[in-house]
Amino acid sequence: MAKRGMREGLLWPKLREYWHPVAFAEDADGGPLAVTLLDERVAVCRIGGQVRAFRDLCVHRGTPISLGWVEGESVVCAYHGWSYNAEGKCTRIPSIPPEHPIPKKACLETYRVREKYGLVWVLLGEERTPIPDYPVFEDPDFEELYRKKLVQKCSAARATENFIDQGHFPWVHEGILGSRENARVPDAEIERDGEDLRFWLDTYADTLHPVPHRRNYRLTRPFTIYQWKEEADGKTEVYLNVSTPNTAGECTRFMIIARNYQSDRPEGAKREQLTDTVMAQDLVIIENQR
Ligand code: FES
Ligand code: FE
Repeated sequence: MAKRGMREGLLWPKLREYWHPVAFAEDADGGPLAVTLLDERVAVCRIGGQVRAFRDLCVHRGTPISLGWVEGESVVCAYHGWSYNAEGKCTRIPSIPPEHPIPKKACLETYRVREKYGLVWVLLGEERTPIPDYPVFEDPDFEELYRKKLVQKCSAARATENFIDQGHFPWVHEGILGSRENARVPDAEIERDGEDLRFWLDTYADTLHPVPHRRNYRLTRPFTIYQWKEEADGKTEVYLNVSTPNTAGECTRFMIIARNYQSDRPEGAKREQLTDTVMAQDLVIIENQR
């Protein structure tokens, strides 16, 4: 019998062709930061103001470069102090005389990396599609009220399905999102648009969003969801929810929430706490599904 998770891994060659967020931009400031993307260990750091992503492997003796540190315009390996520049080229081997040439092959493997929406996105393979759009990021009308990441012991596909699953709200999030007295899922309109699946439904008020509203979703292949909850008067709350596949059985969820209105609804710490509660409630289910 196939080992659990093996079939997921068959998707890796295709998933390498998509950009995945691996960190928030500020996480790259110290560094190098070790992340895992599609079973690949990647070191992310900022050199000369630019974010860089390397295969997390010093070519000298195979030490993770993430154990090292950034010094000036270089990243330095913790084992024998080899320095690599922003392009991954080794520029210094402290144990040999300075006039001794540095082997041309002494390079860290680099990956394409981009900073967008305050996230660090990495592409391991050929680019199939651009980074998904987050249209309100620079819109001055929208204020960000939540930005967090969470490591989840489940596949990215499982986590993505959970975010768009409408029927679980009254059961898993009773009292916050939906009510068991009214567990019917409203009908949804759905359309396919290239890499995107768009759907929307009109829904009831709940604690998290105490005004009837339209829930709009744009699911961009493979694991990016952009959701906007729109009220009749234009008040809109948006979510960017991306699940990054670390391994077949683990993903990192990046979640950003913003909205274009002030209100006396659950605000600040309480709002953050409610969102954390919803995420924790989902975690119990998605980490245990088979
Ligand atoms: Fe990196 Fe030796 S293993 S410098
Ligand atoms: Fe949920």
